Parts: sequence; C-alpha cells; structure tokens
Amino acid sequence: MQVVEANGARIPIVGFGSMRLNQEAGVRVIAAALRIGYRHIDTAQAYENEREVGAAIRASGVARDEIFLTTKVAWQRFKAEDLTRSVNESLERLGVSHVDLLLLHWPNPTVPVAETLGALCKVKKAGLTRHIGISNFTLPLIEEAAKLSSEPIATHQIEVHPFIDRAKIVAASARHGMAITAYCPIARGRVPGNETLARIGARHGKTAAQVSLRWLVQQGIIVIPGTSKEERVAENFAILDFALSEAEMAEIAALARPDGRVVNPPHAPQWDG
Ligand SMILES: NC(=O)c1ccc[n+]([C@@H]2O[C@H](COP(=O)([O-])OP(=O)(O)OC[C@H]3O[C@@H](n4cnc5c(N)ncnc54)[C@H](OP(=O)(O)O)[C@@H]3O)[C@@H](O)[C@H]2O)c1
Repeated sequence: MQVVEANGARIPIVGFGSMRLNQEAGVRVIAAALRIGYRHIDTAQAYENEREVGAAIRASGVARDEIFLTTKVAWQRFKAEDLTRSVNESLERLGVSHVDLLLLHWPNPTVPVAETLGALCKVKKAGLTRHIGISNFTLPLIEEAAKLSSEPIATHQIEVHPFIDRAKIVAASARHGMAITAYCPIARGRVPGNETLARIGARHGKTAAQVSLRWLVQQGIIVIPGTSKEERVAENFAILDFALSEAEMAEIAALARPDGRVVNPPHAPQWDG
C-alpha cells in the first residue's frame, strides 16, 4: 500500500471511514475492509462505534501492528483533564494500548488551543498515540496549532472532493508539513451521479466514485471513503491501478462550486477556505 509520509508519520493513502457503521453489521463491513486489504481505519468518539472497530480488527485476523488506526477526541472534551480521560476511554472501547493517530475532531472556541494541544502532546508522549493531528481547522487555527504544538502535527483531516475548493487550507497545512486527509471523498454519495466523473471513469473502466478518489490520491491526498456495502468496499479500494491525465485532473477540479460543502454542523467554525 502506498503511504503518505508527513512529519514522521507513514499513513496508508487509502483508508476506510467507519462513520455510521455500528453494531454487528458495522463489525462485518469493517472486518471485510481489513480482509480485502485496507490497512488504515478512521473512527471517532462521536461515531459511537469504537467498540465495533476494535471487534472488527480482532475478527479480521489482521495483526494490530499492520493497521494504522485513527480516532478523534470530541470537541466537547477539549479541557486538559477531560481530554486525557476521554482518550483512555477510547482506548478501552477499542481494546488497544494505543492508536496510531489522534485527531482533534472540531475546533472548540471555548477552550484555549494551547490547553488542548498541550494535553494532546502529553498523551502522545505517554504513548497513547503514535501521532497527532487536527480536523476542520481554519487558516488562523492552523497557524496557532503549528506554533503551539510541541509535537509535529501529522495531518489535517478536512472535507475534500471535486465539488469543493480547499486549496487555501491545503496549502496552509502543507506549509507546516501536514498531510491532508480527505473526508467525504465521494461527497457522501453525490459523486456517483455526476456525468463528468462517470464519463471520465468510463474511459478508464472505472466508476465515478473511483475517479473522485483517484483525483485526490493523485494529488498526494489521503482518502477515507466509507460504505455499508461490501461490494463498494472493494470498489473504493481499487484506485491505485490507473492514472488520470493532466486534462482530466483539471476538468475535475473545475467541478468545484460555492455550495459544494456537504458537512456543516452547528458547531462548525466560520469557514475561510
Ligand atoms: N473529520 C470529520 O469531521 C469527518 C466528517 C465526516 C466524515 N469523516 C470521516 O470520513 C469518512 C467518509 O465520509 P462519509 O462517509 O461521510 O462520506 P463519503 O465517503 O464521501 O460517502 C459515503 C456515502 O457514499 C456512498 N458510497 C460509498 N461508496 C460508494 C460507491 N462506490 N458508489 C456509490 N456510492 C457510494 C455510501 O453509501 P452506502 O453505504 O449505501 O454505500 C455513503 O452514503 C467517514 O466514515 C468518517 O470516517 C470525518
């Protein structure tokens, strides 16, 4: 598996997003993903499926140390003591001694970034995570995090797909050596109906979803598509065996539009890129 190297981390470029995969059905699909070859699983406290992810890892037969496992601290738990407690709870639910990556899920304007990052770096130094990262940060917050963190920030996880332009955030994160991890890389199901992506895919014997994922990895962006269907688990993984031309890359980039954002919850920051 191709990896992205960033600030000391080696992150498999294709990961599996586990949001909405709960209970027995969730365990089955996540374990299937590991069996067909995914070696990077993305979860979060907020998905309420860390137990299922842990069970799927054990059921898959894949060794724990072959898997790059990410979880996220919920924004409501950013005060120093609460963060430490909540990470320990995540590890207990997952049934692992450490994760490979721990992300701050969303910015929380009510707790100083210095306090949260201090606690995050402390749990890293204590060995509870191998790497740390951020998610959904704005331009000034990226700068603040990079300045205040005593540990390197491996990745910035953000919404990226062909319908949204994140160039400013990507560039600001890259200036600090952070890899970009794309969530909603197939725009939560909006990609498959797109005619341009389907037409380009047909040329390569690929689906529109595969074209969207390929467009991202071809820019060095890590992708974590999610699906509840086993046949799509395999489809979303088969994206490293073809290449888009420069003209195709540009045609896909031109699909970005101002209302292309999919994820915008009430606790989202004022987006600036
Ligand atoms: N950091 C954050 O704030 C944040 C926010 C959102 C998500 N995430 C992470 O990113 C992961 C992916 O995001 P997401 O699940 O919201 O969006 P996504 O991966 O872009 O899309 C998932 C949706 O697309 C459908 N789908 C998947 N593969 C398909 C295919 N090959 N053809 C047609 N439809 C397909 C799925 O439906 P079926 O189940 O019916 O296949 C599902 O409804 C999540 O699981 C989570 O780990 C992080």
